[in-house]
Parts: sequence; C-alpha cells; structure tokens
Amino acid sequence: MLSKIAALPLFPLLISSLPAACAAPAEPSSCGSLHPKWTLSAIDLSSYYTYTSPSASGPKLGSISFTFANSDVSYTAACKGNSVNPLGTFYSSQTFDCETEDGATWKKTSFSYDTASKIVVVNSTWTCNGGDVLYSTSGEGKAELECETDTWTNPEWEAGSGELYSNTTTTCEEGSLVIQI
Ligand SMILES: *[C@@H]1O[C@H](CO)[C@@H](O)[C@H](O)[C@H]1NC(C)=O
Ligand SMILES: *[C@@H]1O[C@H](CO)[C@@H](O)[C@H](O)[C@H]1NC(C)=O
Repeated sequence: MLSKIAALPLFPLLISSLPAACAAPAEPSSCGSLHPKWTLSAIDLSSYYTYTSPSASGPKLGSISFTFANSDVSYTAACKGNSVNPLGTFYSSQTFDCETEDGATWKKTSFSYDTASKIVVVNSTWTCNGGDVLYSTSGEGKAELECETDTWTNPEWEAGSGELYSNTTTTCEEGSLVIQI
C-alpha cells in the first residue's frame, strides 16, 4: 500500500536557488514508481545466550543488521537492531530506526524482525529529488538464512560455583532479501 502525502513546501524559493554543487545526487528516473524494489543486503543475524545454572538464564544478546536500498532513490540506509530478550529472540513489536546519510524526516526508514516467522517488516519514507511529495510505504519479506547453532556446556559446573553452566551461539550466513512493493 503506497500513499502519497503532499508535504508543505516550506522554503521553495530557497531550495530552488541552491547552487547545483550543493544538490544531492539525482534520484533514478524511476523515482515515483508505484512499485519500487527494495533490497536488504548483507543481512547479518546472530545470537548468543547463556545459562548460569540448568534453569537460570544469564546474559544474552540477539543482533541483526543489513543495508537497505530502495530502487526509487540513490542512497541506502544502515539498519541495526539488538535484542536482550530471553534467547536473544526478536519480536515484531520491537522497531528499530535505520540511519541514512542525514537524518531528515523524508528519508526515514525503520524495521522490525520476528525470530519465529523470520519476517522482516520495513517502513520507509522518501521523496524524489527532495520534491514536495512524500512517499511512505511498508513492505515485508522472509529472511531465509542458513544458520548454525552451537551449545557448549561446562563439564565442571557445580551449583554455587558462579561459573557459566552453558552458552549457545547462533550465527547465520550473510543473506539478502528483495521486497517488490
Ligand atoms: C510501520 O508503520 C506502522 C503504521 O504507522 C506501525 O504500526 C508499525 O509499527 C511500523 N513498523 C515499523 C517496523 O516501523
Ligand atoms: C562459552 O564459554 C566458554 C567458557 O567461558 C568459552 O570458552 C567459550 O568461548 C564460550 N563460547 C562462546 C561462543 O562465547
């Protein structure tokens, strides 16, 4: 679902009189297409969690990062998120902001990831060549990554020893995902 929001042109005269040297690189001529292609590349997903006893979970961390590209525009966004939920699990209710070259609101991109379904949801807002029309849409896709999980259990663990009982690491091969809006 793509919506066009007419933004208020705040300083149209000032913008149009900017010298060419200050202008951002021109957006692709396809900008404004109703069906941009979104590409998530270098998707890096991993998690690490520990148990301090057979039943007590210890430090844990899930992390995900990728580069987001939209065929409508010439820049990319760097997307990163961490989870400290049990087992480093991500839920779709956690949303993370991606970083673009400048933080202007018309370049806003955010995402969520759900470990159980492997679904990545991306919301993005952009303009064509800094024009007055804001495009804002949401897309989603399934990140099918090859992952490997290793668990190490401390053979010398004893209750009260303060030692780690186990740790589990999951690492995935870097992947990519194309979302055709
Ligand atoms: C996307 O936008 C919808 C509607 O504003 C919001 O409910 C949802 O949380 C957003 N998701 C992300 C990943 O930013
Ligand atoms: C798990 O803990 C052991 C003992 O502290 C350590 O040698 C090992 O590197 C840890 N594994 C990972 C993947 O961190």
